[in-house]
Amino acid sequence: MDKDYIITIDGPVSSGKSTIGKILAKRRGMVYLDTGAMYRVVGLESKKRGIRSDDQAGLKKLCEEIKISFKQSKEGQKVFSSEEDVTEAIRFPEISLLASRVSAERPVREALVALQRDAGRDGNIVVDGRDAGTVIFPRARYKFYLDASVEERAKRRHKELVEKELEVSYTKIFKDIEKRDKDDRSRALSPLKPAKDAVIIDTTSMTIKDVLNAIEGKIGSCTSLLP
Ligand code: DC
Repeated sequence: MDKDYIITIDGPVSSGKSTIGKILAKRRGMVYLDTGAMYRVVGLESKKRGIRSDDQAGLKKLCEEIKISFKQSKEGQKVFSSEEDVTEAIRFPEISLLASRVSAERPVREALVALQRDAGRDGNIVVDGRDAGTVIFPRARYKFYLDASVEERAKRRHKELVEKELEVSYTKIFKDIEKRDKDDRSRALSPLKPAKDAVIIDTTSMTIKDVLNAIEGKIGSCTSLLP
């Protein structure tokens, strides 16, 4: 088992990380880890239990109690909090903002980074997030950082929500993205930024296929290292 065979994909909201991460993992027979979904579960559970986003002791206890898991299904990867399927519930805009808030708190980051490292202990994993290449797996073999203009990302997010029949205005999405970007970039702990050795890809005017080609172009240039 090649423990260092890890691909990290970081970037801001709706930069295409999860779409690309999922396809890449499937094509290469690798595990896909959505670290953002884990922060979303903590955000959702904190809301249900009435724990404030700055209550460090409450969040620490919460992280000790909850059990986050991923399961494959016909419709794709499902996210569970204990036995409950929270795949849809964690995608609501309110939970996105809560996830961003709780993710700035040390006990939450410590608990989740430990779980994420454990998930990647045998390698063969594609990890998407904000700090995958900088903090979780600084020794990952391939690191990518996807970015795009706020306008383009708001358009993508709006389309996704419309497809799920969730009524949210473009303007609200645009503002939420700006806020989340600002908070994720400016927080003291593990702020969103590209790792020094990450390949930065601006996906604003690229299709999913273009981005995959760009990534596989880099990975493919080291074929001897592929599993
Ligand atoms: O990728 P996402 O939009 O599902 O992530 C939700 C929030 O979780 C994001 O605003 C910041 C936080 N997050 C984080 O701090 N570190 C990660 N590795 C992934 C997400």
